[in-house]
Amino acid sequence: MNTRRSMVAGNWKMYGSGAANAALVDGLRQGLAGLGAAAGAVDTLVCPPFVYLAAVAGRLADSGIALGAQNLCAETGQGAYTGEVAGEMLREVGCSHVIVGHSERRALYAESDEIIARKYAAALATGLTPILCVGETLAERDGDQTSAVVARQLDALIAHCGVAALGRGLVAYEPVWAIGTGRTATPAQAQEVHAFIRGRIAAHDAIIAGSLRVLYGGSVKAGNARELFAMPDVDGGLVGGASLKAEEFVAIVAAAAV
Ligand code: PGA
Repeated sequence: MNTRRSMVAGNWKMYGSGAANAALVDGLRQGLAGLGAAAGAVDTLVCPPFVYLAAVAGRLADSGIALGAQNLCAETGQGAYTGEVAGEMLREVGCSHVIVGHSERRALYAESDEIIARKYAAALATGLTPILCVGETLAERDGDQTSAVVARQLDALIAHCGVAALGRGLVAYEPVWAIGTGRTATPAQAQEVHAFIRGRIAAHDAIIAGSLRVLYGGSVKAGNARELFAMPDVDGGLVGGASLKAEEFVAIVAAAAV
């Protein structure tokens, strides 16, 4: 039994509208309240698109559900960076967390390990808790490259930010082939990579590795959350599709509270 507190985070991606978000947040508030004390054992977080952050922050008031962004600028402060959003701005509108290096950003927006490390550093510098996403593609898994890819992604972060920085964030293992595909990693597959991640970090600092929360992401839903979260190195989930349905998300939180 470890002492790491579970987290269930919802990545809303580019979904939602003012009305849909309000209904979703109200459903989450009601559903989590219905879990009673169990909900208090799990950290919960939602990550809406940038433009809705302030409105969702208002709607979340006093709910105990934290707010995160899905991305941030690698530069801090103010500046001529058209289309970008700084960590300070995210903090000002109520974010405590930010997802960094999601595979969709790596693949579709050409984010390199280096830019991701710079974004991670920018998050910490602005008082945000970063959630670093790592994970392999199907071709990489089939080519037995899973460990090498995850190691490269972690090592790049450690080389740029130092291992202590990892201790101030979370890691999410998200096999790319399991994202949005309905094809979840088996609990054993997830556990194997989570243990690898912890071991890789332990080689630098065993205490940080032991306390770091490593979330699993990739087609997590109410029906599979419990067996995934039962794995010793799985500390909760980063949930995409199922986080858009209040009932599903609440059931996943309940699974993490067990
Ligand atoms: P999914 O997405 O749960 O829809 O597979 C997870 C993620 O991309 O964070």
